[in-house]
Amino acid sequence: MPPLLQIRAVTEADLPELVRLDTEAFPSGPYPYFVLRQFFDAYGDHMLVLDDGASILGYVLATAPNRDLSWILSLAITPGLQRQGLGRKMMAGILDHLRSEGVKEVRLTVEPGNDSAVVLYRSLGFTPEGAPRKDYFGLNQHRLLMMLFL
Ligand SMILES: CC(C)(COP(=O)(O)OP(=O)(O)OC[C@H]1O[C@@H](n2cnc3c(N)ncnc32)[C@H](O)[C@@H]1OP(=O)(O)O)[C@@H](O)C(=O)NCCC(=O)NCCS
Repeated sequence: MPPLLQIRAVTEADLPELVRLDTEAFPSGPYPYFVLRQFFDAYGDHMLVLDDGASILGYVLATAPNRDLSWILSLAITPGLQRQGLGRKMMAGILDHLRSEGVKEVRLTVEPGNDSAVVLYRSLGFTPEGAPRKDYFGLNQHRLLMMLFL
């Protein structure tokens, strides 16, 4: 990992940068500010950010466990830093955190054509739960559900 980069817990002051990064990583469907605000309020202790001292360059967000189950709600690395092992590091960090809380099962959704994400999740041990679910997030928003037992 480049020396200036650190993975750390999110703070409230990160919110504007987080919104900027989310829009950069998901240009066709970023979370609105109010959604990220509420994720921070509800799950801030399950969010990690990648920080270079000036900007937020990545983040991962999980839900707090509910009956030993957590969802990964988002993972993003800024386009210029992709393919350097940072997404994998952020996932490993949040999975360690969930494991330490006694989480037994982790679930997530991914666009079936998002090869880089699907390959990453598979390499971490996630397996698809059946075929992609049609219109899962609304019309033409199909998603593959994946799960991992910790
Ligand atoms: C998906 C994403 C988070 C991956 O982060 P990343 O830092 O680029 O991934 P890593 O460098 O840690 O790669 C880990 C592994 O994933 C796979 N992978 C990552 N990018 C890939 C690509 N473009 N093609 C094929 N496999 C890829 C590889 O197996 C890779 O391991 P390797 O480099 O040892 O071969 C990043 O591409 C991203 O932010 N994309 C936009 C937002 C997004 O789609 N998020 C996921 C939503 S479910």
